[in-house]
Amino acid sequence: MIQPQTTIAVGGIDTDIGKSYITGLFARYLLRQGKTVTTLKLVQTGCSEGSDDIRLHRQLMGQSLTDFDQAGTTCPYVFPYPASPLLAARMVGQVIEAEVLDQAMAKLQAHYEWLLVEGAGGLLVPLNDHLLLLDYQAAQNIPLLLVTSPRLGAINHTRLSLEAIRSRGISLLGLAYNLYGDHPRERVQDTLQECRKALAAYGFKENVVIVPDSRESTAAAWQVLMRAAQPEENPL
Ligand SMILES: Nc1ncnc2c1ncn2[C@@H]1O[C@H](COP(=O)(O)OP(=O)(O)OP(=O)(O)O)[C@@H](O)[C@H]1O
Ligand SMILES: [Mg+2]
Repeated sequence: MIQPQTTIAVGGIDTDIGKSYITGLFARYLLRQGKTVTTLKLVQTGCSEGSDDIRLHRQLMGQSLTDFDQAGTTCPYVFPYPASPLLAARMVGQVIEAEVLDQAMAKLQAHYEWLLVEGAGGLLVPLNDHLLLLDYQAAQNIPLLLVTSPRLGAINHTRLSLEAIRSRGISLLGLAYNLYGDHPRERVQDTLQECRKALAAYGFKENVVIVPDSRESTAAAWQVLMRAAQPEENPL
């Protein structure tokens, strides 16, 4: 039987929020459920030899680099300058093209049951002069998992992100609440509560997966996301 294909975008409220960790850990969970899964990093900046994020995904998945990784399919654009994708591409005289990203995604979707697509930076970073990352993802019509955390400023960034997601009619699977970092307990609890309130305020389901620092534990309720991503298979 041909398995249905599921693609999920993993976006963040900001750069360095834990998108790569969450992508790699969720992919590992899916592998352990017996699924075929890979990850795609749309654009990597600040790297010369392949994508650091793809290497981190594979490390967390317990895999070596695949043929698609070696061929650059899982990260079609890698730029050395650490900046927005638009500027990093411009620094080497290139322009990021949506068609190139589409082709990479289609190739991987044809080979894997699950594809997790990590963005770059926050949601509204420019890919080129005419296209923001979130507008590209809205056009793909794939659901989004938003990574947030208890870091200072996260309540504001989460609400701004949810507003941008809502206004584009993007389907939100939920939030991944990344506990990595040294956060006081009061802030961890308060920010979580504010994130739940914000989901409700914007009319989203209150799906929140709490993700621990992976050096302490990798246990998280990934099954909630897996079910949310395949509603037709799980009608209840
Ligand atoms: N759950 C976690 N467990 C352990 N370390 C983590 C976790 N989340 C984040 N980190 C640490 O924080 C750093 C930044 O996380 P990560 O690379 O996943 O962010 P990102 O959102 O993917 O950043 P970018 O915008 O550059 O892609 C990681 O290199 C790692 O050191
Ligand atoms: Mg990353």
